[in-house]
Amino acid sequence: MISGNGQMWGTMRSFRRDASVTKRKLPPGTLRRIVGFARPYRRSITVLVALIGVDALIGAANPLIYRQIINRGILGHRGGLVVALASVVAAIAVADAGLALAERYFSARIGEGLIFDMRTRVFSHVQRMPIAFFTRTQTGALVSRLDNDVLGAQSAFTGTLSSVVSNVFGVGITLGVMMTLSWRITLVALVLLPMFVVPARRVGRRLQAITRESYNLNAAMTATMTERFNVAGALLTKLFGRPEAEDSSFARRAGRVRDIGVISAMYSQVFFASLMLTAALATALVYGWGGWMAVKGALDVGTVVALTAYLTRLYGPLTSLSNVNVDVMTALVSFERVFEVLDLAPMVDDKPEAVELPATADTIEFDHVDFRYPTASQVSLASLEAVATLDATPDKPVLHSVTFRAEAGEMVALVGPSGAGKTTISQLVTRMYDVTGGAVRIGDHDVRDVTQRSLRSAIGVVTQDAHLFHDTIRANLTYARPDATDEDLVTALQAAQIWDLIADLPDGLDTVVGDRGYRLSGGEKQRVAIARLLLKAPSIVVLDEATAHLDSESELAVQQALATALAGRTSLVIAHRLSTVRQADKILVVDDGRIVETGNHETLLAAGGLYAELYRTQFLPAAAGESVIPA
Ligand SMILES: Nc1ncnc2c1ncn2[C@@H]1O[C@H](COP(=O)(O)OP(=O)(O)O)[C@@H](O)[C@H]1O
Ligand SMILES: [Mg+2]
Repeated sequence: MISGNGQMWGTMRSFRRDASVTKRKLPPGTLRRIVGFARPYRRSITVLVALIGVDALIGAANPLIYRQIINRGILGHRGGLVVALASVVAAIAVADAGLALAERYFSARIGEGLIFDMRTRVFSHVQRMPIAFFTRTQTGALVSRLDNDVLGAQSAFTGTLSSVVSNVFGVGITLGVMMTLSWRITLVALVLLPMFVVPARRVGRRLQAITRESYNLNAAMTATMTERFNVAGALLTKLFGRPEAEDSSFARRAGRVRDIGVISAMYSQVFFASLMLTAALATALVYGWGGWMAVKGALDVGTVVALTAYLTRLYGPLTSLSNVNVDVMTALVSFERVFEVLDLAPMVDDKPEAVELPATADTIEFDHVDFRYPTASQVSLASLEAVATLDATPDKPVLHSVTFRAEAGEMVALVGPSGAGKTTISQLVTRMYDVTGGAVRIGDHDVRDVTQRSLRSAIGVVTQDAHLFHDTIRANLTYARPDATDEDLVTALQAAQIWDLIADLPDGLDTVVGDRGYRLSGGEKQRVAIARLLLKAPSIVVLDEATAHLDSESELAVQQALATALAGRTSLVIAHRLSTVRQADKILVVDDGRIVETGNHETLLAAGGLYAELYRTQFLPAAAGESVIPA
């Protein structure tokens, strides 16, 4: 029949594709970039195209051999010739199988190579995106871009390339031979084709619409399941006791997916059946008309058989080619979606002439720093976000002319009401964002003039909820210093007051922690993070309320660990504890993005301003529980 089921599926997949892609305008140069990606494989591509051509040629020889078997062999009563020609058919079949194997090898090599190239490039590029990108972007959409679009681009490339080349060769050769055999019958056979292609397009459009709907429904069901079936979601469902409501809304979606499945199966069947029917009608026509001509002596029997055999090689490829614009565009668009990510310029980037910040840099200076958070459209792609259009209106300024200096070895505390801008200030030190005005200098180097790598190796950060990778404790620690020995790790863990606990674990340093690993409590995790910071041995330390979420017992342990971490280092500490604040060499009181007061505990208290108020409302009540720490 229509040269195999595989081809029919391919054809149907093509008709299911969203035909509206052909209306999309690609940015100039997309094609050139795809060629650039394909360049390393040009030799394999040439071999592949040549193999496909040879395949099409020898495939087209078969019906001609049937013709000779019938005309000269059977009708000429030459048994030897029949056997010889049949052996040629067999040999061609074997060669064909070998060719198919070789084609698959080359197309897989090209395809997998492309996946590798694009994946590694996208991964490496995304890693270089500023933190603002990650705060905006939905991880799911990003991972899908890394996975699906890369896969889509490669399968579109190799699939579309092979099928277009093989169909063009196949149709060209087949039509050519058919025309020489009988141009009349060939033309009539061609006239029948629209009988199929026109309804097929219709069915394809319907299939597109319901396929899209079922994708969305499936995505919604998956989202519901991942949300409801995690601990927090399950707990909520139980506590609010609405399992029936959950059931019925889930069942509604699942039901629609079921109905779509049936409709889609029926449409697919219509598609196949009409392709089969058209081919069968054409075969009947060729046998009927050709046979009649054979009876009249206008055509020989072998030619009639050869023509019907060619027919089966004609319709499938022609149908595919009738939709080739959609296939090619889909391939281009997949590439374009990958390029879109690669083109997203990192807002925070090393200057070409960036220098290494000396590891000994140990002063922090803010010089009239103004800052506003970047808008969504500056840092992300609409297609990676929950909302379709990105807000381009700038956020209100968050910092106004913030100026201060922390000298070597000094501890500077930031205090202020929530939302004042303390975390923002701490993130500018490590250049998670670039200032919109003024400058941040570390060791008297503008942070924009040094490499990000050297900047971040000079600064250690501990935040409220320190993150550990889902990996062993050892791997989490050596992430900060890959050459650390086990003794180094133990020393750091001891200094961070957490070694005793880890030594007691059955797997010790090999215990897997992180999201799905051993459940370290908040305070324990914090101390592992401090050990990680100690291994890094930065000259500057930034703490963002590192003990805010802890109960008083863990807080004490973390506090002691932090004392080691801060000793002899310049530090910027966002504090919510009186004891920490009182130790500071300098206290900066931040309110609404401005430094409103500067001084030490005594002078600020005496001044009777915002600090004195914070002292009464925030520090004193908290201090009630911190009797253990000497002030
Ligand atoms: N990623 C962000 N994008 C936009 N605005 C932000 C972002 N993070 C914080 N803000 C805003 O900046 C202001 C200061 O926040 P933050 O520095 O976190 O305050 P603090 O740490 O003092 O509580 C707040 O108004 C907050 O809403
Ligand atoms: Mg904060």
